[in-house]
Amino acid sequence: MDANRVWVDSRLRFRIGLGVEGRVLSELGARGTTALDVGTGRRGLGARVAVTRLGADDVRAFDLHQASVESSRRALADLGDRVRVERADATALPVADDAVDLVVSLHTLHHVVDWPAAVAEYARVLRPGGQLAYAEMTARFVDNPVLRAVSRHPADRFTEDELLAALEGAGFDVPARRHRSRAGGCWLLGVATRR
Ligand SMILES: C[S@@+](CC[C@H](N)C(=O)[O-])C[C@H]1O[C@@H](n2cnc3c(N)ncnc32)[C@H](O)[C@@H]1O
Repeated sequence: MDANRVWVDSRLRFRIGLGVEGRVLSELGARGTTALDVGTGRRGLGARVAVTRLGADDVRAFDLHQASVESSRRALADLGDRVRVERADATALPVADDAVDLVVSLHTLHHVVDWPAAVAEYARVLRPGGQLAYAEMTARFVDNPVLRAVSRHPADRFTEDELLAALEGAGFDVPARRHRSRAGGCWLLGVATRR
């Protein structure tokens, strides 16, 4: 059993994502009309955060896994044509350059093998001034031996400093006032702006 999968698919995870992470990202100033949710999961969490908290009314939600695409389509049906769900890899999004106002990425990067490539892809699809709203777990949490024993994540996950450096290097500004580090640097939330 993959404990991570059980947690990610749970109702409690959904409530924390919508009620805590969605609220914090909104308070940090995340906004956008046209949005992507990358790594939407089985409940379409980031797409719902984008519509209900961040002002989006045109959202494309992506996941690598077809089962998540189908499940999140059902979960998001009440949002009608404001959300479309498609299968795509975070490192090769079927989106034009400079196309969207907002990318929502909730706990996706630490699952992507080549996570710096996904960060670069987020920068490519955002218009200048567009925002990346992120929530992530760092290596301090993901590489904990207890978690490694019960869950599956790629090797060599990032520290907080490595993620911030990758964002800066890909063309994002991440002002300190828009970045939150919680649980001893295990849990990050923030809004990065594409230069
Ligand atoms: C930890 S779950 C997060 C789900 C949801 N965003 C949330 O916060 O609850 C990570 C999601 O990213 C997806 N994912 C992993 N690698 C991906 C990739 N390369 N491209 C797109 N999605 C990916 C997984 O299938 C999974 O649904």
